[in-house]
Amino acid sequence: MPLPRLGHDNLGLGLGLRATHYPHILKHRPSVDWFEIISENYMDSHGRPRYVLEQIAEHYPLVMHGVSLSIGSTDPLDRDYLKRLKGLADAVKPAWVSDHVCWTGVGGRNTHDLLPIPFTEQSLKHVVERVKQVQDVLERPFVLENPSSYVQFRGSTMDEWEFITRMAEDADCGLLLDVNNVYVSTFNHELDPHEFIRNLPHERIVQFHLAGHTNMETHLIDTHDNHVIDPVWDLYRMAHELTGGVSTLLEWDANIPPFDVLHAEVLKAKRHMGEQLQTDDSTEGSPATDDTHEMPIDDASWVPHPLHHMVAEVE
Ligand SMILES: [Fe+2]
Repeated sequence: MPLPRLGHDNLGLGLGLRATHYPHILKHRPSVDWFEIISENYMDSHGRPRYVLEQIAEHYPLVMHGVSLSIGSTDPLDRDYLKRLKGLADAVKPAWVSDHVCWTGVGGRNTHDLLPIPFTEQSLKHVVERVKQVQDVLERPFVLENPSSYVQFRGSTMDEWEFITRMAEDADCGLLLDVNNVYVSTFNHELDPHEFIRNLPHERIVQFHLAGHTNMETHLIDTHDNHVIDPVWDLYRMAHELTGGVSTLLEWDANIPPFDVLHAEVLKAKRHMGEQLQTDDSTEGSPATDDTHEMPIDDASWVPHPLHHMVAEVE
C-alpha cells in the first residue's frame, strides 16, 4: 500500500501563477503557500517570464502543470517536448510535474484542447506504457489529472475512475484530482460525482484543483472564470476527508480578478478542512475584474477556456 500522497508533501493552499499578478507578487510577496505554473509558458522563454519565475521560485514552492503532453495520443511521444519539459524542471525544481489524462492532437497537429480518450483495455495499456516512458525521461514525480469532458466514447468498457485508478497503479504515478472537473464531467454525462471520487486510489492523490465553471443549462463548461460553487466545495470536503488532505490549488484563467480575491477564494478551502477562516471574506461574490485577456465582446457565444490563457502568455 503506497504512503498517503505517495509520500509527497502537502504544500498547503496554492494559486495558479498568472502574468497579470507578477507585479503584485513581486511587490507584496503575499502569504500564499505555493504556486503552480503552466509549463508551456516558461519552457521556451528565457526573457521576462523566466526572470520573474526565478525570483518567485526563491520564495515559494512551485509545481509544474502542462497542457501539451498528449499522453493518450497515438502519435509517438514528442521527445523534443519532453526534453524541454525536463530542462525547465531541472531549472525550477518543482515538487512534481503534472499533465492531463487526455490527448491534444494527432498526425502532428495540436488542437489546443484536452480531448477525452476511450476507456478500454487497449488504451489503458497504451497510456500506461507512455506514462512509464515519461517518468523515465523526467526522473521526477509525475502526476496526471482527470480533465473535464463533454462527450464519451461508446466503445469505452470501463468507467473513468476505473481507468484512472488502474493507470496510476500500473504506471506507478500520482493523481491530480480536479474536483471541479469531476463535477463538470459527471454532470455532462449524468454520472455520480461522489461515486467517482469514492472509487479513486486516495493514497495516490497528491494534489487537488479547484475552479469555477460556466453553466449552460444543458451542460457545464470548464471555464476557470469564476468562484468555486458550493457543490464543488462539498466534493472537495469529501475528497479532503478521503485523502487526509493534499496540496490544493485554485485555477482562475479568464476574467481574472485582483490577486486578493483569488487568494481569498483558495483560503475558503479551510472551511472544508475543519478550520476557521482567518481572512476577511468580503470578496465573496465580487465581480471578476482586471481581466487581461481579450474577449470578443461582440460574440455572445464566446466562452473562455483555460487554454486561451495559456496561449496568450506563450505569445
Ligand atoms: Fe485542473
